[in-house]
Amino acid sequence: MTDNKNESISAHEAVYFIFGATGDLARRKLFPALYSLYREGKLGERFAIVGLARRPRTQEQFRDDVHESILEFCRYKPSEQEAWNAFAEHFTYQSLDTGNVEAFKQLKTHTEQLEAQYDIPGNRLFYLALAPELFGNVSRNLRDGGMLETTGWHRLVIEKPFGYDYPSAERLNEEIRHAFREESVFRIDHYLGKEMVQNIEVIRLSNAFFEPLWNNNHIANVQITLAETVGVEERGAYYNKSGALRDMVQNHMLQMLTMIAMEPPSRLDPEDIRDEKVKVLRSIRKLESGEEIRSSIVRGQYSQGSSRGKELKGYRQEDSVDPDSTTETFFSARLFVDNFRWAGVPFYVRTGKRLPVKSTEIVIEFKNVPNNVLFAKRQELLPNLLVIRVNPMEGIYIKFNAKKPGNDMTVQPVAMEFCQSCQVGLNTPEAYERLIFDAARGDHTYFTRWDEVAVAWKLIDPIASAWREDSKDLQFYPAGSWGPEKADKLLTDEGFHWWPVNGQDEDNVIWVSNTSK
Ligand code: BG6
Repeated sequence: MTDNKNESISAHEAVYFIFGATGDLARRKLFPALYSLYREGKLGERFAIVGLARRPRTQEQFRDDVHESILEFCRYKPSEQEAWNAFAEHFTYQSLDTGNVEAFKQLKTHTEQLEAQYDIPGNRLFYLALAPELFGNVSRNLRDGGMLETTGWHRLVIEKPFGYDYPSAERLNEEIRHAFREESVFRIDHYLGKEMVQNIEVIRLSNAFFEPLWNNNHIANVQITLAETVGVEERGAYYNKSGALRDMVQNHMLQMLTMIAMEPPSRLDPEDIRDEKVKVLRSIRKLESGEEIRSSIVRGQYSQGSSRGKELKGYRQEDSVDPDSTTETFFSARLFVDNFRWAGVPFYVRTGKRLPVKSTEIVIEFKNVPNNVLFAKRQELLPNLLVIRVNPMEGIYIKFNAKKPGNDMTVQPVAMEFCQSCQVGLNTPEAYERLIFDAARGDHTYFTRWDEVAVAWKLIDPIASAWREDSKDLQFYPAGSWGPEKADKLLTDEGFHWWPVNGQDEDNVIWVSNTSK
């Protein structure tokens, strides 16, 4: 049957298959997300969840795993045993060899029993929390094992990384498309599930004091920072191959950039929004020659350092990392979106591991008013800023100039903040809750379409290949610092600077906020 997004009433009456059910993603994100959806009534009662992995687990062991994961990671905690049992009984576990089609045929029998038990009209959502090498095999065996022959819809949800470069992503896509049509594929970029990333559209398009200014006449530059304090932890083997470029830039950073830069879609239809995002990706100026890449991108790797009094080892000393590795743990770039709206406006992006704070922020810096007229250059006017705080604090603030009370005309910067997480508590839905719910409703808006993924890889591949050939420009930065100094130069060359995240270190600014800042 065709995949129809308007089936909203029955969309959540489904069997959810979690491939990789004994893995970290399932434990930290997926089970807690499913429980939150259940607690909020979004799953109803007519659903079943089937955990799948190679390792044998009894039903009891599996339900205990789920319980522990929810106690540790969910924003709701199960209280009464009876209520918990009512949820847990929807979970079953099946050990499965993803390469064996016979196992999928058995899964089909099990699924049909569950559909009869819970009166589910054949809707099946397959969540692959697996290494991408397995996506092709699993999709094929789902098809050959008869799991897609259903009276309802079937949808495939897959995690990043979607490929390693454009050719591998294309191969992967072909493998999947043998079994699933594009409308049935939901590629996750969990940044698109974040409350404030979804809020970008609303902030931009529903405010008369932002929308008319959203262009190169009024915006001087855009800064997107995704800073992390963690190192590579136990993911050295994966990270050493991917680096920041593939782990963060190809997906999360470019997705945030497209949300800022896209043209207003004519309707809030998922395809209209995704069309606009693809146009932005196509308009990003490609960096191809070694010289273009060196002058617009800074790559770094953390060396030994410290943070808050704690000694931190260097990347090359991390487990499963090659001691001569040239993998970048920091990336910063000056990008341009070559279209009429954005011509000439630099988009500065930076992301890194082992930076001083965990913070994702987007700063829109507006062009200054001429200060040589009214203020006769007596004062340096600071530019107006709109700052979107994505993670872990959620909110926005604007910075503007006002008169300092008194007799003279002294101008004082003021920041007015709406701290959303302070307002509604830290209990806003997690990215994975929204995304699972959207996939179950068939809403593609916050999933990446194949052409978006493809264009993003085409931007990334020349950079990766230039870096492979020559690693001389790799800069080292002490763990716990803000990355290589050269990353500042990308901005200072043009008379700008990185605005401190969290509005830190800005003593002369008056803050008006719903927090206790
Ligand atoms: C993941 C990356 O996609 O995003 C990780 O693989 C990174 O390396 C994580 O730590 C960051 O996500 P968040 O939501 O914690 O900012």
